[in-house]
Amino acid sequence: MNELDTIVEAARAAFGGAETPADLENAKAQFLGKAGRVTGLMKGLAALSIDEKKSRGAAINLAKQAIEAALVARRDALAQAELQDQLRAEALDVSLPGRRRASGGIHPISLSTERIEAIFGSMGFEVAQGPEIETDWFNFTALNTPEDHPARSMHDTFYIEGGAPGAPNLLRTHTSPVQIRHAVQHVKKHRHLIDAGQTMPEIRVIVPGRTYRVDSDATHSPMFHQVEGLWVGENISFKDLKAVYLDFIQSFFETRDLDIRFRPSFFPFTEPSAEIDIMFGTGPLKGRWLEVSGSGQVHPQVIRNMGLDPERYIGFAFGSGIDRLTMLRYGVDDLRLFFDGDMRFLSQFQ
Ligand code: PHE
Repeated sequence: MNELDTIVEAARAAFGGAETPADLENAKAQFLGKAGRVTGLMKGLAALSIDEKKSRGAAINLAKQAIEAALVARRDALAQAELQDQLRAEALDVSLPGRRRASGGIHPISLSTERIEAIFGSMGFEVAQGPEIETDWFNFTALNTPEDHPARSMHDTFYIEGGAPGAPNLLRTHTSPVQIRHAVQHVKKHRHLIDAGQTMPEIRVIVPGRTYRVDSDATHSPMFHQVEGLWVGENISFKDLKAVYLDFIQSFFETRDLDIRFRPSFFPFTEPSAEIDIMFGTGPLKGRWLEVSGSGQVHPQVIRNMGLDPERYIGFAFGSGIDRLTMLRYGVDDLRLFFDGDMRFLSQFQ
């Protein structure tokens, strides 16, 4: 092997051994750089005769071209390898199942609330809302439950800083305070009719919402849901309550094979008062009376607190547990399941 071939072989070996573009550039400098071996050969030409220069020069050029070709080939190979590495690193496994975007659903309590609103809506009831942080006045006193009234003890709740002296604000224990709030607004709006001795449009409203009591077991949660119903006019009686509630409850449970009864009870804001029980004629709950609601004829003092004359205006109210109705509708035996946020439970309602 002559000297030139040896250099070409050495260059090929050096380029082949370069694992990175930087290594390759270093190797290139050893052969083609200013102080490189090929450059050294070129410099040696100066000492030769014209003829020798020609033949030797041509041979060196061939060797140089061979080295350059080897350099370009190695550069391409390294670039290819780099690209392959990158492609491998960024590879997508298209055989993996895609991540599906889960579709949300409506919570069972919200489903019930929507049903209740639709049913009462079809009977001409408006839907009203009120604050969950309530004053002592609206939650108790305006509802004929003065301070120290024993009925307050049934409504142990969470008190909050602020409010009137000796009467702190609280988390409302029922939706009944919205009876007063709504009625006062209604009466204000129609004051001119009332004062002129004309007939005020009836108050016919339901109030679904969150309520709070210090209570926690399988059938009680510190936060629960009620729906209040209120119908006040000049001639609204218990028989209207019975008709409305029976129609509601049968629509809610989608069966006519469902009876209701009124059991005497006590609430400070109604007189007389009754618990409403329901009984299914078929199904797993057949034949058992189940308590679902408090109710009664609105107490004259409450009518007065609404800004109306109890000699002229009369009506009924009820307050039902939405959670309880939902448990009965779906056969759920532990109320806490609704609020645990377990998707295995909640997704069954979609
Ligand atoms: N507010 C009562 C309760 O929570 C229920 C009720 C409402 C009773 C309206 C009568 C009339 O216990």
